[in-house]
Amino acid sequence: MSKVKIIEVGPRDGLQNESKKLTNIQKYNLIKRLEKSNIKNIEVGAFVSPKWVPQMKGSAELINKLYKNKKTKTTYSALVPNEIGMLNALKTPIKNIAIFAASSEKFSKKNINCSINESFKRFKKVMDLSSKNKIKVRGYLSTAFGCPYEGSVSHAKVATLTKKLLAIGVYEVAISDTIGIATPKDVELLLKRLKKSKVDISKIALHMHNTKGVALANVLEGYKQGVRVFDTSIAGLGGCPYAKGASGNLATEDLVYMFNGMKVKTDIDLKSLVSTKNWIEKSCKIKTRSHH
Ligand code: HMG
Ligand code: MG
Repeated sequence: MSKVKIIEVGPRDGLQNESKKLTNIQKYNLIKRLEKSNIKNIEVGAFVSPKWVPQMKGSAELINKLYKNKKTKTTYSALVPNEIGMLNALKTPIKNIAIFAASSEKFSKKNINCSINESFKRFKKVMDLSSKNKIKVRGYLSTAFGCPYEGSVSHAKVATLTKKLLAIGVYEVAISDTIGIATPKDVELLLKRLKKSKVDISKIALHMHNTKGVALANVLEGYKQGVRVFDTSIAGLGGCPYAKGASGNLATEDLVYMFNGMKVKTDIDLKSLVSTKNWIEKSCKIKTRSHH
């Protein structure tokens, strides 16, 4: 039976864009519920500036609490944009982080306040500290299917930046449709271009926002092209505060439902996920975008 790996990004990507700011207790309860559904990889926070993304303030305290009470083998991860973020991450027991680059200059500037080139100089410092401290690093490549400020992005540029991220030592690159504009044809063509550029497809994940309702179809195309790692967000929460028009990620429960039907193993308990989606709607008073 085929198998896919799901990275649940709801507690980070999902909550960073919610106008309602959840308390650390609510975030902790959400993550514990996700673990109960047998989700094994959860992005739980971000070591970014609280002035830029106030919803991620308190990530260090949350991570310390999660490790203190850790009973499962769940892998927790968090975003790190620069050396300051890395030094803050090192004050916690976290063992997996993610750096995030952009495929378009304007989005890079809006999101992390620097050019793409400058971001790679910052990542170098993060990578050095990570390797010294035995921390695994994932990479995101945003605006891979188009930028809210510059429009289309060339496949050649995405291929070059993907290879550059892999060359600095990330173990996987999440090709990200930040504003959710891709269609399956775009996914097919971009993945074929990456393969042509000799990118190992087993090191590629897809991170699809669902602005136009096509994210599930995009994942299916990615699966057909050989991708086996997908990012999703419980209840379809999410978006990027610095990408105009970006809406939520593909809902975890929608993806699990599809793969269950295709007899592709996710190991995730759908019933329990749906109960968490209902819980978020009720107890956290967050309007969701799920189909369950
Ligand atoms: P900056 O203002 O250019 O940084 O921000 P700076 O180096 O000039 O420093 C200015 C102040 O920020 C200083 O403090 C620093 O100490 C502090 P002050 O002296 O003024 O008191 N600072 C920090 N504080 C906490 N943590 C840090 C940090 N770095 C500097 N790491 C920075 C640069 C990257 C920090 C900022 O632009 C930022 O935090 N941006 C937020 C980016 C973000 O979280 N975006 C959303 C996540 S990415 C996303 O959603 C896309 C993704 O889902 C994939 C996809 O869908 O495409 C991953
Ligand atoms: Mg995202």
